Order: sequence, then C-alpha cells, then structure tokens
Amino acid sequence: MTSDERLGREQRDSTACGRAAGPRATSGSTSGLSEAVRARVGLLAVSLPTKRAALVPALWAVQEAEGWISGEALAEVAAMLDVAPADAEGVASFYFLFSRKPTGRRVIDVCDNLVCGASGGAQLLADLCARLGIAPGETTADGRFTVRRQECIAACHQAPAVQVDLEYRGPVASADALLAELAGADEEAPAVGGGRAIVLDVP
Ligand code: FES
Repeated sequence: MTSDERLGREQRDSTACGRAAGPRATSGSTSGLSEAVRARVGLLAVSLPTKRAALVPALWAVQEAEGWISGEALAEVAAMLDVAPADAEGVASFYFLFSRKPTGRRVIDVCDNLVCGASGGAQLLADLCARLGIAPGETTADGRFTVRRQECIAACHQAPAVQVDLEYRGPVASADALLAELAGADEEAPAVGGGRAIVLDVP
C-alpha cells in the first residue's frame, strides 16, 4: 500500500465511526532528537554498511524514545544519514509500526482484512471505536488508548485478531472483553512507546 493509499484510508477511517478527528494524546516530544537518540543514530550510521541501511533502525530508535516520529525528528534523522527527507518520509509512512503522531499508552491494532473481516473484525473495530469514543487511528483524550485499523497481521488462525502493543491476541470475543482485559493495565505501561520496546541491536 502506498503512502497516499494509506492516507486515503486513514481519511476514510476518520469518518467510519461517524466522528471527525479529535484531540490527540500529547506524549512524546514535538521537537527534534534527544542527545541519547542522536548518539544512537550516529552509532547506527557508522555500524552498518551504508548510512541509508541505518534508516529503519534509526527511526525505530526515535519511536522507542518518543513513542512517535515527529517531522522535526524525521528531518534530523534524514540529515544525519544523508537520506533525502522525502525518502525518509516514504519509509516512515510505509511501515505501520512507525507512528507519525503521538499514541496512547496502549496501542490496539485491529485487523479487518479478509479472514478477520469474515470473523467479526470489522465489527470489533467499530465497537472498540464506539466504546472509546474515537475513530480508527485516533487516541482517546485521556491518552490511554490508540486504536488503529490494520491489514492482515499474520494471525489469521486467531481471527478476529488484534495486537496490543504488538502482542497478539485472538480470537477476541468482543470489544468489551478486550477492554475488560486491559482495564488498569495501561496505567502500568510506559507513557511513550506503546507499552512495549523492541530492541534493534547494531549487528
Ligand atoms: S486476516 Fe486478520 S490476521 Fe490475517
């Protein structure tokens, strides 16, 4: 899926629950890179065969630290790696694991692709949105949850499947059951990063 197609889908999603985009959670920095992340990107740049090869792990380092990738951070990473800003934007927008806006403490990715869709995935997504008062792609005003619509997440045997902070769950009986399972747990999750860190070590 191209970035334009993804953008178009997000725009359609915003109206899927009958609600325009609302206020976002504000976790994470809105400025450029912290010293720690800048050092990490610098290390990646000299540890991989080419600077460009460091782009994905560098973006992930930003995501881990801030919970999302701001425009300023993206531009700084691109400059450090001698990558055109448009190329960096293309990579950051292609992979759904990269968020270009702040997320909640728990990130719920709901698959509504073929198998999950036929098993109630679309209804699950709609019910989650309704229960939380947001549209797909949005974060609750209290910053607890972000709900995102996803294509197949390779868990068709668990349909309807979701990922909560990248951990698979399914089959999910209902939105209420999932939210009951998550009740209170989000308060123990870190304020940024979607509650789970993935470490991409330098080879
Ligand atoms: S269709 Fe949902 S995980 Fe494959």
